[in-house]
Amino acid sequence: MLHAKTNIVGLALVILLLTTTAWAGENSDQANKGRVGFADDSPESIKLRSGSGDPVAGKDKSELCQGCHGEDGNSVETSIPKLSGQYAKYVAKQLRNYQAGKRSHAIMSAMAATMDDTDLADIAAYFASQNKMKGKGSNSSNRIGKNLFLNGDIDRNIVACINCHGVDGKGKAPNISLFPVIGGQHKSYLLKELNKFREGARSNSPGGIMSIMTETMSDAELEALADFSAGL
Ligand code: HEC
Ligand code: HEC
Repeated sequence: MLHAKTNIVGLALVILLLTTTAWAGENSDQANKGRVGFADDSPESIKLRSGSGDPVAGKDKSELCQGCHGEDGNSVETSIPKLSGQYAKYVAKQLRNYQAGKRSHAIMSAMAATMDDTDLADIAAYFASQNKMKGKGSNSSNRIGKNLFLNGDIDRNIVACINCHGVDGKGKAPNISLFPVIGGQHKSYLLKELNKFREGARSNSPGGIMSIMTETMSDAELEALADFSAGL
C-alpha cells in the first residue's frame, strides 16, 4: 500500500514539476497565477494556448469538425466533447493518438487518419482561440465530487484534480498544454472518459496517471466528479 502511494505521489510530482518549471522559467509573476488556475480569455492567454498553428486557416479547415463539435467548439450533443478554449497541443496530441491507435473511437480515428501536421496545428489553434468552455455552476450539495476534486484521497492514490487541471478545471497556465480543460466540459463526455480510464479502454494519459487514479473509484464517485467538473 505504502509502495503504491509513493509511486503515485512520485509520478504526480514529476509531472507537476516538469510543467511548473517550464512556466516559472518564463515568467515568475505568472507562475503564481498558475497556481490559482487559468480561466481567462485575455489575448495573451489565447495566444499562448493556441500554439503555433494559424487559427484563421484552421477555421476553414475545420468545417467538418464544427458540424459535430460546434462552430465555436461548444458542441450541443453531450457525448461529443467541447473543444472551445481547449489547449491546442492537447487537441493535437489527441488527434495524433487517434491516428496512431493509442486512443480509439470509430468516428475520430477515421477523422484524424488523413490529417497532416499543418492541418492539425491550424485546426487545434482555431478551437483553442475560442473562449474557454464554461459550465452552468457546480451543484454545491455534491460533496463527494467537490471533496475529491479539491482534496483527492491520497490513501487511495487519488491526487486532487486541482493540482493538474487547475482550481476551476480550466487548466494550469496558458502555455502548459499537458492538462486538458475539464471545467465546463459536458458531464456525459467526462463520465464516459473517466470510465474508459478506469477500465483501461483509454490508456493514453502520461504514465497512465488517469487510470491509476480512477482504479479505486466507485461508479458514484466518477458520477460525482463528472457532475462537479461539468458545472465549473
Ligand atoms: C460525427 C461527429 C464528429 C466529427 C465530424 C468530428 N468529431 Fe471529434 N469527436 C467526436 C466524438 C463523439 C468524440 C469523443 C470520442 C471519444 O470518446 O474518444 C470526439 C473527440 C474529439 C477529440 C478529443 C477531445 C478531448 O477532449 O479529448 C478531439 C481533439 C476531436 N474530436 C477533434 C476533432 C476534429 C479536429 C475534427 C475534424 C477533423 C473532428 N473532431 C470531427 C465526434 C466528431
Ligand atoms: C497528476 C496530474 C493529474 C491529476 C492529479 C488529474 N489529472 Fe486528469 N488528466 C491528466 C492528464 C495529463 C490528462 C490528459 C491525458 C491525455 O493526454 O490524453 C488528463 C485527462 C483527464 C480527462 C480527460 C479529458 C478529456 O477531454 O478527454 C478527465 C475527464 C480527467 N483528466 C479528469 C480528472 C479528474 C476528475 C481528476 C481528479 C480526480 C484528475 N483528472 C486528476 C492529469 C491529471
